[in-house]
Amino acid sequence: MITTTDLTKVYRTRDREVTALDGVDLHVEEGEVFGVVGRSGAGKSSLIRCVNLLERPTSGTVTVDGQDLTALAARSGSGNRAGKELRAARARIGMVFQHFNLLSSRTVLGNVELPLEILGHSGQQRTRKARELLDLVGLADRAGSYPGQLSGGQKQRVGIARALAGDPKVLLSDEATSALDPETTRSVLRLLRDLKEQLGLTVLLITHEMDVVKAVCDSAALMRNGRVTESGTVAELLATPGSELAGELFPVGGEPSAPGRTVVDVTFHGETATEPVISKLSRTYNVDISILGAAMDTVAGKQVGRMRIELPGGFEENVVPIGFLREQGLTVDVAAVADGAAGDAGAPPGERSAEAVAAPAGQAAARAEGGAE
Ligand SMILES: Nc1ncnc2c1ncn2[C@@H]1O[C@H](COP(=O)(O)OP(=O)(O)O)[C@@H](O)[C@H]1O
Ligand SMILES: [Mg+2]
Repeated sequence: MITTTDLTKVYRTRDREVTALDGVDLHVEEGEVFGVVGRSGAGKSSLIRCVNLLERPTSGTVTVDGQDLTALAARSGSGNRAGKELRAARARIGMVFQHFNLLSSRTVLGNVELPLEILGHSGQQRTRKARELLDLVGLADRAGSYPGQLSGGQKQRVGIARALAGDPKVLLSDEATSALDPETTRSVLRLLRDLKEQLGLTVLLITHEMDVVKAVCDSAALMRNGRVTESGTVAELLATPGSELAGELFPVGGEPSAPGRTVVDVTFHGETATEPVISKLSRTYNVDISILGAAMDTVAGKQVGRMRIELPGGFEENVVPIGFLREQGLTVDVAAVADGAAGDAGAPPGERSAEAVAAPAGQAAARAEGGAE
């Protein structure tokens, strides 16, 4: 539904150039909610603004619903046919903003009518359509209120109703919930998800909150320095060893309880139910397994997540159980092998940073790879 190919965006100011997008290839399937995450300055807003041609890409292409928008933009002057087609295509892309961008001098109804005016709908048509849209977002009774009389969540609902005015097939959302409290965030996300189902929308949303991705996204991409460094469905990301997104979506903690134990992170990505595997492992090899931490969730109807478990004995003694877990189709990373050596067991739980845990995990995982063959 949305494809970008080798998309670049360079901002030129008088004294410097900023490369905000540096060759972005993104593919969003029809009907999915796709989340783009990344730190501030990663290029997320530039990406979304290039997708609807609010910002003209420096190079590369953007295709939405089979239409090459970049080609249309290149040919469009004032009033010609390509210009008309581009405007029509853009009307079919709704956009929701973090700070709502509502006109304070207009009522809620007036704000939703605004894009309909621009699209050339007559007065009566406009009001009927705007009322329908307000009903859809649960604000039928606030049509006569002014934005200043609404809560943040209600304002964003107005923003969403307005974005739906052109009967879009695609909804773009730039940090739509970042100004809202967690409870309101959940209700706005639920609304987006319901609208997606009801109207058959494809949603591309940008966020810096992992919880948002977990709550609504089918797929996600991580951006850093203008590039997409990881992307895929949540299940695919979880199945990718060392995936940074998977690690942030399902962080697990927990330290070895005593020296002489092996700590293993097991990633479940939908095919295997959690408990039977662990109890089967315990029965088959007659080992006592402690669960140190877990982050599980249901994503797209499947149970996914990670569990950190502890096995008695050092790594060599656990090669076979680890191999067993891998044979069950699970992704297994050895997080730590507590041998009582300096540093490891001494640090109180939770005090070590993620980076500090990640470094030995990488080495140990490489060993486990060889050991399990
Ligand atoms: N209009 C602009 N002019 C110059 N630089 C810009 C402009 N918009 C964004 N940038 C720069 O491009 C980079 C990416 O910004 P942005 O796309 O807003 O990232 P994000 O949304 O991930 O925070 C940043 O370094 C930012 O300062
Ligand atoms: Mg931004």
